[in-house]
Amino acid sequence: MTENILIIRQPMDKNEYEVMYDLRWRYLRRPLGQEKGSEKDDNEDCAIPFIAILNDQIVGTARFHKINKKVAQIKYFTVEKLYRNQGIGCNLLSSIHFTARNQRIKYIILNSPVSALNFFKKNGYEIVEKIKVNFNGINLFKMKKTLRIF
Ligand SMILES: CC(C)(COP(=O)(O)OP(=O)(O)OC[C@H]1O[C@@H](n2cnc3c(N)ncnc32)[C@H](O)[C@@H]1OP(=O)(O)O)[C@@H](O)C(=O)NCCC(=O)NCCS
Repeated sequence: MTENILIIRQPMDKNEYEVMYDLRWRYLRRPLGQEKGSEKDDNEDCAIPFIAILNDQIVGTARFHKINKKVAQIKYFTVEKLYRNQGIGCNLLSSIHFTARNQRIKYIILNSPVSALNFFKKNGYEIVEKIKVNFNGINLFKMKKTLRIF
């Protein structure tokens, strides 16, 4: 029997980038009626993209972007629907926190939909404010985590 092996790392080639952008689009942009291309922004070149690979398949992604010396933002965080509730999101988040600590980041911020609030709360984030997003009437919550220094 083969074991389930989860690897969290940066995408390494064009194909992995394409799969990652497709994941972002399918789960985070298409549901809002947004066009292909909306899954990228001007910060791609200075951000660190992460992918979660389970048994050779890319099943999750998130992006880490340093805003200033102390603050970084997580964006485009999603796990393939079939693979949710197995701990992949928590592992992805832990890897990003590891990178953030290594870069001496003190605070991580992100915008979470209502459906992911509990997930982020369990991982040490607290709500800062409710953000009204007019497009499709979706509410997001700005969340923040203070990183413990080991
Ligand atoms: C939010 C999201 C990334 C979480 O990913 P995930 O892989 O399902 O996360 P995990 O499996 O690590 O944790 C999810 C739940 O499963 C539980 N869990 C963790 N490991 C588990 C395991 N081995 N077996 C069963 N359940 C487990 C966790 O306790 C957690 O419980 P909660 O729902 O009460 O918080 C995912 O739901 C998603 O892609 N949502 C849509 C996009 C989105 O909202 N992104 C956030 C934008 S900032």
